[in-house]
Amino acid sequence: MALQARPYLQQVRASYGADIDLRRHPYNVPALRQLDSVAFHADVTFFIGENGAGKSTLLEAIALALGYSIEGGTRNVRLNSAGEQSPLHQSLRLSKSYQVPSDGYFFRAESFSNVATLADQTGYLAGYGGKSLHQQSHGEAFMAVLLNKFRGRGLYLLDEPEAALSPSRQLAALTAIHRLVGEQSQFIIATHSPILLAYPNAKILRFDDAGINEVAYEDTEHYAVTRDFLNHYPRRLEQLLAPD
Ligand SMILES: Nc1ncnc2c1ncn2[C@@H]1O[C@H](COP(=O)(O)OP(=O)(O)OP(=O)(O)O)[C@@H](O)[C@H]1O
Ligand SMILES: [Mg+2]
Repeated sequence: MALQARPYLQQVRASYGADIDLRRHPYNVPALRQLDSVAFHADVTFFIGENGAGKSTLLEAIALALGYSIEGGTRNVRLNSAGEQSPLHQSLRLSKSYQVPSDGYFFRAESFSNVATLADQTGYLAGYGGKSLHQQSHGEAFMAVLLNKFRGRGLYLLDEPEAALSPSRQLAALTAIHRLVGEQSQFIIATHSPILLAYPNAKILRFDDAGINEVAYEDTEHYAVTRDFLNHYPRRLEQLLAPD
């Protein structure tokens, strides 16, 4: 294979020792138990699947293996209040490019507030648009990170960024992601958003009982269910809300 600068993170391979317990978390999650290797797109890789399918667990393990703290943020953030980390990162082997990304961020909605507090305390707000993230709404704060903090040539791991975003801001996020991809960035994004998933320079990986497999956008449940519902919502509501 020819040497390529990107993807920065090319592949992750599981090497489970004989001592792991397949009945216990995280190895009891079907997609993770069967994990062999996952190859990433140079631009954007999406993780999709049902609630509990293992997306956040794998994203977190990749982040830990890359040197992030479980709280997320930049690699300089050293907090430890998000609770227990799974041991999965210890059994992952990462294949990386010879080219090291010059920027990076691990965004997780649930602990973003702690990272924001740290930015306030350390007075390190320039990268966040100069305004305390606590004085912005959840969505405004995330957009400040996307627009001001991410500098390009980066490897960005995002867990459900849409949780904070209105539909219009999700469209704006697509534009921002595309600009950063044009500046040689790579994203790995766990999402349920049919809007974000439409990004064309992407690989969509579905986590389910069959493992982790690539799927086309229009074959995702996100696309099909959303489209069907919006096109036929009066009828679908009648069906969903009908008395037993
Ligand atoms: N610390 C833990 N101990 C035991 N089980 C856990 C722990 N953390 C997560 N789990 C379980 O592992 C499974 C995978 O969780 P994970 O958070 O990776 O799912 P997900 O795909 O990100 O789901 P969602 O779409 O809801 O965010 C779930 O069944 C969850 O209950
Ligand atoms: Mg999750």
